[in-house]
Amino acid sequence: MSDLIRTLERLRAARRPLAFSGAGMSAESGVPTFRGARDGLWQAYDPSRLATAAAFRADPDLVWGWYVWRMGLVRQAQPNAGHLALAALQERWPELRVVTQNVDDLHERAGSRGVLHLHGGLFEHRCFDCGRAQPDFEVPADAATSPCLRRAPPRCSGCGGPLRPGVVWFGEALPEAAWSAAVQAIERADLVLVIGTSGVVEPAASLVGLAQRHGARIVEINPEPSAFAAGIDVRWRAPAGVALAQLQAAIGEEG
Ligand code: OAD
Repeated sequence: MSDLIRTLERLRAARRPLAFSGAGMSAESGVPTFRGARDGLWQAYDPSRLATAAAFRADPDLVWGWYVWRMGLVRQAQPNAGHLALAALQERWPELRVVTQNVDDLHERAGSRGVLHLHGGLFEHRCFDCGRAQPDFEVPADAATSPCLRRAPPRCSGCGGPLRPGVVWFGEALPEAAWSAAVQAIERADLVLVIGTSGVVEPAASLVGLAQRHGARIVEINPEPSAFAAGIDVRWRAPAGVALAQLQAAIGEEG
């Protein structure tokens, strides 16, 4: 039996499916993953110099410049067939929750509702010093030009401190509201589609085990092996855009 058919059977039987996505979800949109063998960001860049509060304190222009580059990549990217298929599946399963580790907005731009972002959002800037939200920064037109362009962070309209991107850096806590909503949704889910994540970053990765302990079936969609070990019902070795588009088409044919 093909992975498509096995996934289809599980999806048909599900009442509260949930999609748990990682960087691989956006790979076909041209957004680089972190640990991909060829284009992984953490192969080319040192996270300790770019993705910690200490790194920002030491060299804010370097860190802000790198994040502006990533903002530029995401701004010019479009949702791929996988994002669009998930949004379409939400029409059929209004209870389908999307929990993502991604800081891009491609799920939302594809039409998904109620997306829970465990690692924050690339465009949700706030002041590094006082924490005030600063939504008004316009991504420069040349943002995607170079990852190495140093840029001085804009200043906070309240205290004058430097702005930081609204992402979770290493060593920081996950946003409390998104995390507790994700735990609740995972505990209720009866099917979890684990899409495009290496499964190595905690606590996010632990949600899969939590779902299993609450009786959910797990379908993994990833062209490569991941760190998720036992108890995966279906390991569908395919890119997210290909697999989810096939799934959506098969569901669509059923009417
Ligand atoms: P990773 O970069 O660790 O893993 C990406 C996964 O996507 C890998 O398992 C790839 O095999 C898979 N992949 C690649 N192309 C794919 C495709 N077209 N379709 C489906 N899967 C594909 O990304 P995450 O697991 O999301 O944290 O990383 C977790 C966290 O580590 C990120 O949120 C980020 C990073 O440090 C923060 O920014 C806090």
